[in-house]
Amino acid sequence: MGNSQNLFPHQHFVNAELRRKLTKQKPILIWLSGLSGSGKSTIANELEKKLYENGFLSYLLDGDNIRIGLNKDLGFSDEDRKENIRRISEVSRLMLDAGLIVITAFISPFEEERELAKTLVNKENYFLVHVNCSVEKCEQRDVKGLYKKARAGEIKNFTGIDSPYEIPSDPNLIVDTEKETVSESVEKIFHAISEKIT
Ligand code: ADX
Repeated sequence: MGNSQNLFPHQHFVNAELRRKLTKQKPILIWLSGLSGSGKSTIANELEKKLYENGFLSYLLDGDNIRIGLNKDLGFSDEDRKENIRRISEVSRLMLDAGLIVITAFISPFEEERELAKTLVNKENYFLVHVNCSVEKCEQRDVKGLYKKARAGEIKNFTGIDSPYEIPSDPNLIVDTEKETVSESVEKIFHAISEKIT
């Protein structure tokens, strides 16, 4: 744990409010949570495209990408997943302060860490989307071939197989990728947030 006793945070002249006047948009964190293969990255990517086409400045933080860079020291134990989400939450907080609309696509299996993210960015800036899809369906899709490896015991602590996923108890929105098309899910999210970002 870090030591914060000799630190003195500064208040900067150019603050979130001034930046908001420049960008003419209201930052929000759109947090996608769901199993591997549920469709988070696909939806996040299409949602970002839609935001861009509508003139919004955004940034997408995605599990696989962040784990190659910022969080490359982390694995998939419970502790590492918690640290993964803690860092992403802090990065999201900075990006919101910078004025961006932030989309995150991480399994984020634990309620406690999702709650931490919500507290860090303030709940009015946090929009939790549960990307719902059964383990059976994700396993059937197995886009990355990881479920097969997990079943064969080649990957340990795989979410939905031998590591838990806590279903969000109070999401702002649920999209169901077994029943909806990608564009239907994206429309639902865009519709739900569009008044919050202007
Ligand atoms: S989280 O649990 O810490 O939120 P995160 O979203 O960053 O996970 O990373 C998940 C991605 O890592 C998966 O989509 C998959 O490609 C890969 N992965 C590798 N090993 C595992 C594992 N044991 N459990 C889940 N995903 C894994």
